Amino acid sequence: MPPRKIIIDTDPGQDDAVAILLALASPELEVLAITAVAGNVPLDLTQKNARIICELADRTDIPVHAGCDRPLARKLVTAEHVHGKTGLDGPTLPDPVMPLSGGHAVDAIIDILRREPTGSVTLCPLGPLTNIATAFQRAPDIIERVQQIVLMGGAYFEVGNITPAAEFNIYVDPEAAAVVFASGIDLVIHSLDVTHKALTSRARVEAFRDLGSPVGKAVAEWTDFFERYDKEKYGSEGAPLHDPCVIAYLLKPVLFTGRRINVEVEVDSPLTRGMTVADWWGVTDRPANALFIGDIDDAAFFDLLTERLARL
Ligand code: BDR
Ligand code: CA
Repeated sequence: MPPRKIIIDTDPGQDDAVAILLALASPELEVLAITAVAGNVPLDLTQKNARIICELADRTDIPVHAGCDRPLARKLVTAEHVHGKTGLDGPTLPDPVMPLSGGHAVDAIIDILRREPTGSVTLCPLGPLTNIATAFQRAPDIIERVQQIVLMGGAYFEVGNITPAAEFNIYVDPEAAAVVFASGIDLVIHSLDVTHKALTSRARVEAFRDLGSPVGKAVAEWTDFFERYDKEKYGSEGAPLHDPCVIAYLLKPVLFTGRRINVEVEVDSPLTRGMTVADWWGVTDRPANALFIGDIDDAAFFDLLTERLARL
């Protein structure tokens, strides 16, 4: 089977970095482009971090485009308190030498979707949905050309991580999320309900380090860095590897379970802005628009991740 074509839209972020490495290590996937968006840290850092990650994986052939530097209608909120000042705090990695690809990320998304056969490109958003929503607003013809959107964002039973009600990626740009959730595209949503079950442990981090490669070392050191925040906040043994769930789902969907339900985004309420209102119990007649993932085989997920990272 030919590899599945994907675009990774991202705001790296240590967990974004692990997701990107997992994709680059996996022959089942062809990464057509990495498109950076403002999120965990401002755009000048997320686009730089995306190039650092490609260089770490020795994949300077991947086009990296810089995209939107702020949400559609709001001031940017960032998460240095989780990811550190650079967004990739932890290991010391060299500044990238590979250049940014010319052209705005939004134009790259539009061009790729128009160029590739209809239904052959999957979008993998790992950050706020600003680039994706802007592309849909600017070029509505591309919407029907998208094969699927598999994203990290939202929360329902697990409630919020940036406010009591909202998960970070959706909170940062709820208007963009609303556009994407209403697009009619087949959505697979990896919310905190599942990512908070993809927890690192000492043994899992040491397995990364034991790979003995620059990639294994970097992943272990990234994880060491961002673990401190979640361990303190949740009292958990480790930290959730949110964004790699998206890529692992593409590789092995059997590791995940969920329900096809309606999911809508709250955009107006100051108290619950960015909340993903998931009709898990089917109490409305709103049509299902997403597969909302709720569970993961976490042991198999970490085995897959470690086995793939070993290839880089
Ligand atoms: C999401 O927010 C970011 O901090 C992570 O990279 C992940 O995409 C988790 O809420
Ligand atoms: Ca992210």
